[in-house]
Amino acid sequence: MQTVEAKGARIPLIGLGTWELRGDACSQLIKDAAKIGYRHFDTAQMYNNETEVGEGLKHSGLKRDEYFLTTKVWPTNFKEKDFATAARESLKRLGHDSVDLLLLHWPSKDVPMAETLGALKKAKTDGLAKNIGVSNFTIPLLDEANKILPGELVCDQVELHPYLDGTKLNAAIRKHGMAVVAYCPIARGRLVSDTTLADVGKKYGKSAAQVSLRYLTQQNFVVIPRTSKAERLKENFSIFDFELSDADMKTVAALSAPSGRVVAVAHAPAWD
Ligand SMILES: NC(=O)c1ccc[n+]([C@@H]2O[C@H](COP(=O)([O-])OP(=O)(O)OC[C@H]3O[C@@H](n4cnc5c(N)ncnc54)[C@H](OP(=O)(O)O)[C@@H]3O)[C@@H](O)[C@H]2O)c1
Repeated sequence: MQTVEAKGARIPLIGLGTWELRGDACSQLIKDAAKIGYRHFDTAQMYNNETEVGEGLKHSGLKRDEYFLTTKVWPTNFKEKDFATAARESLKRLGHDSVDLLLLHWPSKDVPMAETLGALKKAKTDGLAKNIGVSNFTIPLLDEANKILPGELVCDQVELHPYLDGTKLNAAIRKHGMAVVAYCPIARGRLVSDTTLADVGKKYGKSAAQVSLRYLTQQNFVVIPRTSKAERLKENFSIFDFELSDADMKTVAALSAPSGRVVAVAHAPAWD
């Protein structure tokens, strides 16, 4: 499995997103994904499925050192007095001693960043997480965070797909030596009927979703597509046997627009 390296972390280039996956179906998908070759699984306290993700991994046949597990702490737990308890509760639900990556799910407007980053670093020192990072951080927030915790934050998990131009933010993430982890890499399904992506895909015998995932991974962006369908697990994973030409990369890049964002939530920061 290809990985992206950042500050000692080796993050598998493709992972399974698990938002909205629930119950036995979630555990089963984790096991199916492991059989196909997925070695990276992305969950969060907020997804209410850490127990099922952990259960799936337990019965996946994979040894602990064969996969990369990420979870995220929700901002209501960002005060120093709450953070470790929240992280330990996640581990308990997951049935794991530690995760490979622990993220701050969103920046907080209420808790000082230094307080939360101190607690995040302590979670790593205490062995709850092998690596730490952030999600949904903008360029100014990344600058601030890396001043507080130099050399520690391995990634910024952000929305990224062909409809959204992430050029400036991606450059800032990489300037800090961090990996870009692309969430919503198939724009929550919006781009599967895109005729431009479908036409590009036809040349390679691939679907629009596969073109999008290839477009991102070919630039060394980690992708974490989600599907609830076992057959699509394989489709989304089958992106390492072709390479988009420079011309096709440009055609896909031309689809991006400022209005391309699919995640619009009230607690979002002012995007760059
Ligand atoms: N850090 C954050 O704030 C944040 C925010 C959003 C997401 N995430 C993470 O990123 C992961 C991915 O993002 P996402 O789940 O929002 O969106 P996504 O992966 O871009 O899209 C998922 C949607 O696309 C459909 N789909 C998947 N593969 C397909 C294929 N090959 N052909 C056609 N349709 C396909 C799925 O439907 P079916 O189930 O029917 O296949 C589902 O409706 C999440 O699950 C989560 O782990 C993180």
